Formats: sequence, structure tokens, C-alpha cells
Amino acid sequence: MSELIRLVYASRASFEPADAAAGIDPTVARILLQSRRNNSQLKIGGVLYYGNGCFFQCLEGPRDLVEPLADEIRQDPRHRDFRILRKQAVDARLFSGWSMKFVALESNVDELLRRFELDEFDPYLFDDAIIDELTRLFAAARPIDAGADADPARPATRRESGLLGWLRKLFG
Ligand SMILES: Cc1cc2nc3c(=O)[nH]c(=O)nc-3n(C[C@H](O)[C@H](O)[C@H](O)COP(=O)(O)O)c2cc1C
Repeated sequence: MSELIRLVYASRASFEPADAAAGIDPTVARILLQSRRNNSQLKIGGVLYYGNGCFFQCLEGPRDLVEPLADEIRQDPRHRDFRILRKQAVDARLFSGWSMKFVALESNVDELLRRFELDEFDPYLFDDAIIDELTRLFAAARPIDAGADADPARPATRRESGLLGWLRKLFG
């Protein structure tokens, strides 16, 4: 098994965003389901955040699995301007138990951006300090949905598992 790495990248969605008021964007939901299916088999964990038309994703796992996956994701036509923001060897996972966590933390993210004197969620402007803090914030955050692959330390509520079931029915 190769060393454990944490890779964070940014990209811009290349699809037309759905009405935000309608809840989770269907394209993002499809990506999430696909990620969970594949990553749990590869023992890759992490988090996906989507805000302001940008993706911010953290992938954690063995280097020889994470790097090829990042290369595959880079070529996905559903996004562009893929840029690796951070890649580091780590001793332990921040996202153990997660094949791909999904978070939407509008107020917490806004607060963090304000603290770093940034007006909007533009991950291309982030330095290492903000990337690390955001990653830790996401690791500690309550997920939007929690299915079978949820962190056992954070039991899913009935409403949360219901949402994932609904997404699976639509897109799975
Ligand atoms: C923003 C974004 C994030 C993605 N994250 C993952 C991921 O974590 N794991 C994964 O397997 N696929 C991810 N994908 C999808 C891959 O690009 C690719 O479509 C998928 O791995 C193909 O899997 P399949 O052969 O099972 O359909 C992502 C795509 C996008 C646009």
C-alpha cells in the first residue's frame, strides 16, 4: 500500500446550474452517487463542496489510487479549469468513514471567507492556510445526507437517509 495522501482541487462547473431553491443540483447529485459507488471500493474518502459555480473537492487515500482518480476526474466534461490546490502526504485521514461526504455550509463558509477578507467563494484565490481550514471545517461539518457509507460517529437522521434514498431512486 502506498503512502496516504490528501489532494484538494478546484474546478468550475461547466453545466447550467439548476434552480438553487430546488435543492441539490441534479448534476451534482449524479456526481455524488457515482463518487460514492467508486470511492468506497477504492477506500478513497473525502468531501465534495459546490458553491458559486465552483467545486472544491478533497480526496484522501493511497497515493497510487488517488492520483489516477484525480486524473480521471480532471477529464470529466462536467467541469473545467481543474487545478490542484494542495497535495500532501498525511499520517491519518480526516474523512475516515466517508467515501464522499457532501456539505453545504453557506454561513460557516461565508464567515471563514470574511475572516480571510474574501468577498466570494473563489477557490482559485485560496492559499494553503484557508484550504487547510476549509478542509477541517468540512471534516467537522454535518453532512447534507448520510447513507450507508456515513461516518458511524455521526448517525444519520431519518430525514437525511430519506434524502439519499430519494437521490438514489432518481439518479442511482
Ligand atoms: C466535480 C467532480 C467530482 C468527481 N468526483 C469523483 C469521485 O470522487 N470519484 C469518482 O469515482 N468519480 C468522480 N467524478 C466522476 C468521474 O469524473 C468519472 O465520471 C467517474 O469516475 C466514472 O465512473 P464510472 O466509470 O463508474 O461511471 C467526479 C466528477 C466531477 C465533475
